Formats: sequence, structure tokens, C-alpha cells
Amino acid sequence: MDVDVAGALAHLDAFLEREAAGYADNQAMAKDARAASVAYTETRAIDVDTAASLAYLAYFGPRAVVAVARALRPVPASTGPIHVVDVGAGSGASALAWAFGGSTSPAPAPVQLTLVEQSPKALELARRLLQRLPAHVQVQARPGGLTTVSSINEATHVSAAFVVGELPPTMDVEAALRRLAPSAATTVLVDAGDHPRARRLQTLRDTLRERDDVVIHGPCPHRDACPALQRDRDWCHDRVAKHLPERLARFARLVGRDDALMSLSWLSLGRGPGAAAGQGEDGLVVVGEARQEKGRVRLPVCGPRGLRFVQALNRDRAVVDAVAGLDRGDRLPAPKGVVGDTWALRAGSGADAGAFMAAIKDMNRNAPPTPAGASGAGGANDAP
Ligand SMILES: C[S@@+](CC[C@H](N)C(=O)[O-])C[C@H]1O[C@@H](n2cnc3c(N)ncnc32)[C@H](O)[C@@H]1O
Repeated sequence: MDVDVAGALAHLDAFLEREAAGYADNQAMAKDARAASVAYTETRAIDVDTAASLAYLAYFGPRAVVAVARALRPVPASTGPIHVVDVGAGSGASALAWAFGGSTSPAPAPVQLTLVEQSPKALELARRLLQRLPAHVQVQARPGGLTTVSSINEATHVSAAFVVGELPPTMDVEAALRRLAPSAATTVLVDAGDHPRARRLQTLRDTLRERDDVVIHGPCPHRDACPALQRDRDWCHDRVAKHLPERLARFARLVGRDDALMSLSWLSLGRGPGAAAGQGEDGLVVVGEARQEKGRVRLPVCGPRGLRFVQALNRDRAVVDAVAGLDRGDRLPAPKGVVGDTWALRAGSGADAGAFMAAIKDMNRNAPPTPAGASGAGGANDAP
């Protein structure tokens, strides 16, 4: 499902400018956002009303929009109305991403957003943020907690952005989401790209990957065990460009944070009887940057049988360029007959490697997502 990220960020920026003119250069807001960021990443002592401020929204809002959009890439596009339950909706930024998603062909189909949030203050800010949206988007609030609000039987999608890491470690998150949205065919979870939060999502994936009624849309294009969980010290994360509009980028710099790239972890699932049957063929996903070594370039990928490398020799210039041009999260078809940890691509050996790589680019950039082989993302085991 595609999200109009630029549209969502423009909406957020215009809202912030209306509510706090000159926000991009507001030192006091930047100080508050920095304090929230430090609490989030270092102490994890997040106050229940943390998300209820413009400072929070101006710094963390873009992160939510970009992350939800990333996790929606491999989710099958809907053709009709959708009803999304956004759990831990906070001040509304994650729901904003959904508001700019959904089906647009031939005309925008209705998008119903139900915000479940324990902080009434955050919900009030979300209500204001989510005004002035196109007429096909409707918003309603359900004040309360994930396990306490009544079930929303009409929901088609359930989403929780930057929330799972705040839930008790013993909670069965999938069961809680299923109780809340029993008919939802899609679950989208995003969180920060740090060790504990990313591993929590990867562990959840590992508990679900063999179930017949669950299909993993992403980030992994395969159902094998996550190799990042083999050693306690490893984890897997994605990294994406934020493409912030000018004022949001300026504010991020004033906060003292990266305005260009962000790390995240995510898990997008489909659910329903026999859902796993749609998983299709296993593939590979790029999980890091291409590394130039003596005489060759090597690109880390993850797939069935774990981590391995796609390799091209410098003398095969076109292949080297194609490999070096792949981004984290790009998907590759599973190679046939590869033994060991390296998939060596050679121009002229069998299929034309250049054309092959061009087809891969095309698959990742242009092909409509399908449950079996859409684009997604995986991260390597380095720091966020
Ligand atoms: C880090 S904020 C994320 C807000 C929003 N989803 C976003 O991405 O911008 C986490 C939110 O989850 C809410 N939350 C945490 N645990 C919750 C629970 N059990 N039920 C409902 N909301 C919860 C918090 O109140 C907070 O607003």
C-alpha cells in the first residue's frame, strides 16, 4: 500500500505552523523535544502524556509518518474502504500516514481511522492534527488502553507505531491486537531501530512464522528463523531517508538530531484462515550497505538459510554498479544452486547479470506490492 508521505508531512508542517508560528526556529520547543528524545532513547521513562505536545509532534511526528509508510510498502493495496485501528495513536502522526494511504484508484476510497489512546491530552492534539483532511477520511477516538477498550469488529487493519516497546514484556501483543480488532486482515507494527525494540518485533515474528493463519508481508521475504536472534547481542533494523520538508528538517537540526536518515524496526503481517499459503517463494532482502573490497563488491543479504553476500567482481563493471545501487530493503529473487554464504554474480555467465539486476530494480521500485513478493526492508546487525 502506497502512502503519500510528502502530502502527510506537508499536512503536519502546515498544522505546526498554524499552531506555533515559527516553530522550526523555536529553541524552547527544540529543548522540550530533545528532552523527550533523551527520555525515549536513554531512560525509556516515557510519561503517559509525552506525546501530547507540539514539540513532540514536530520532532517525532515525521518519524511516525515515514515509518508507517515504510511498513506499508509490502502490504497489499486495498481496492475499497479500509477501517484502521491505530493503537497508541498518541498525537496522531501515525494515523496521519494511514490518512494519506488507502486506495486512490479510480477515486479515493473511504478511510475510517479509529484512534485508541490512553492519554486524553494526546488524543485532543490528535483530533486537531487530523482536521482538514480530505473528505474520504473519517476519524474517531476511543480513549483507553489496548487491553481495556472494547473490540472494534469492523476494523480491516490494525496498527501500532512506537508502542510495542512500551508494553509489558510479558504481554502477548498479537493476541491483544487480535482481541481488539478480531477481523483485521493486516497488522502493522513499527518501532525504533534499537536493540530491545527491534528484537521484540523479531521475536514476535519468530513466534508467528510457522502459523498457517499468518503471512509475513515484511520486512523478511521468507519464513525462516531470524538469524539476528541467534546471538543475544545482535538485532536487525531498517534505515530510511526521511525527505523532510524544509521547516521540519530545520526543527530536527535544532533538536540536534539527524534530519536525513532514521533507523526503525517493523513487522507487517497478514492474518486469516490459510493466509500462509499466499507466502509464495522465498526471497532475499538487502540488510546493509555494499562494501568495496579488494577486487570485488559485497552486499549483505538475508534469506532462507540466514545471512549471506551477493558478490560482484570489479571487472564486471555493470554488475558492480547494479549491486552497489541496491538499497537496504530491496528484494532479490532467491538464487538457485548457491552453496555457502556467497552468491557470485558474473556478467555473461548464464543470464545477463546486468539485465537481471535491472529487473530486480524494477521489481523493487515499480511493481505493485503482492503478498508473495513485494518490496520491504531488513536491517543489519549494526547500531541504529
Ligand atoms: C511513543 S508514542 C507513539 C504515538 C504515535 N503512535 C506515533 O507514532 O507518533 C506511544 C503512545 O502509545 C500510548 N500507549 C502506550 N501504551 C498503551 C496502551 N496499553 N494502550 C493505549 N495506548 C498506549 C502512549 O500513551 C503514547 O501516546
